[in-house]
Amino acid sequence: MNKNPSNKPITVRTTPSLALIKYWGKAETQENIPATSSLAVNLDGLFTETTVSLSDDADAVTINGELVPPDRYSKFFDRIRKTLGTDSAFHAESHSNFPVSAGLASSSSGFAALAFGCCKLIDEHLDQEIVSDLARYGSASAARATLGGFTTLKKGARFAEKIFDKNHWPELRVLIAIVKQTAKKTSSREAMELARTTSPYYNTWVKSSEDIFQNAIDACRNKDLEKLGQLMRISYLGMFSTMFTSTPPIYYWEPESIQLIKKCDALRKNGIGAWETMDAGPQVKILCLEEDLKNIINSLKAEFDQLKFMLSRPGGGPEILS
Ligand code: PMV
Repeated sequence: MNKNPSNKPITVRTTPSLALIKYWGKAETQENIPATSSLAVNLDGLFTETTVSLSDDADAVTINGELVPPDRYSKFFDRIRKTLGTDSAFHAESHSNFPVSAGLASSSSGFAALAFGCCKLIDEHLDQEIVSDLARYGSASAARATLGGFTTLKKGARFAEKIFDKNHWPELRVLIAIVKQTAKKTSSREAMELARTTSPYYNTWVKSSEDIFQNAIDACRNKDLEKLGQLMRISYLGMFSTMFTSTPPIYYWEPESIQLIKKCDALRKNGIGAWETMDAGPQVKILCLEEDLKNIINSLKAEFDQLKFMLSRPGGGPEILS
């Protein structure tokens, strides 16, 4: 069912999906179905650009010029072929303008770009839900990244939903402190599986995250950063609690991560709304309002002059560049 007979390579651009309320753990491993409901926002200014083409030989993916071991992608491409009804192999060259595999959601923008690119290459009119569903097989957070704006991926769901457009909260900013650029040793996929199978707190985490998720949607709807920030903290610290209590434990944090967490706490005590969150890596992402940004940046740069910072705001969904 190739509805794009020209088979010309396609280049697409996606932005990563930052979870405000985390997905952590699978309800079903083979199908990559999430056990917890997540709420996220796409990050403008950070991006992955991927060129996808059809090929007669084997699938091949390069990330920033390096060939990736095929086992990371084989199931994903098999699923794409099955859904799109093609026997073709895919070649993909991907570049990101931010560190990859370092806890900055590069797998969300990476797999979103691959799924979106492959789908557009074969059938440009495919339903958004199918694109999101296919992206999820690569990485559940990628299902959200295929939409842009504020999104949810509910527990047990196969595709993500957009709940608010990227323009819903124009004052919202995300400041990203890059604590360490190098790739992490344990993938989020391995870490969450370890938490599911060994942490005594895993079931409590899964159970408690549903209420947090529902309340966070309301906070987001009402653009209530203080309420959202408090829920974000419960979510990311709950997620890390399952990692600290896994056997063996997983520590993604670096000394600067905890220093930044404490700094946000101190800023809040001084009436400045700086609300941090973290993912499977040492980087700290700080949500704030435009009016507080200058204050926060100055104060962080004075104390963390060795760190690199990236500034973002709610971003859109995938685009076709050529
Ligand atoms: O989608 P994955 O397999 O890369 O896992 C994402 C896990 C977190 O980034 C920690 C949370 C999330 O919801 O994005």
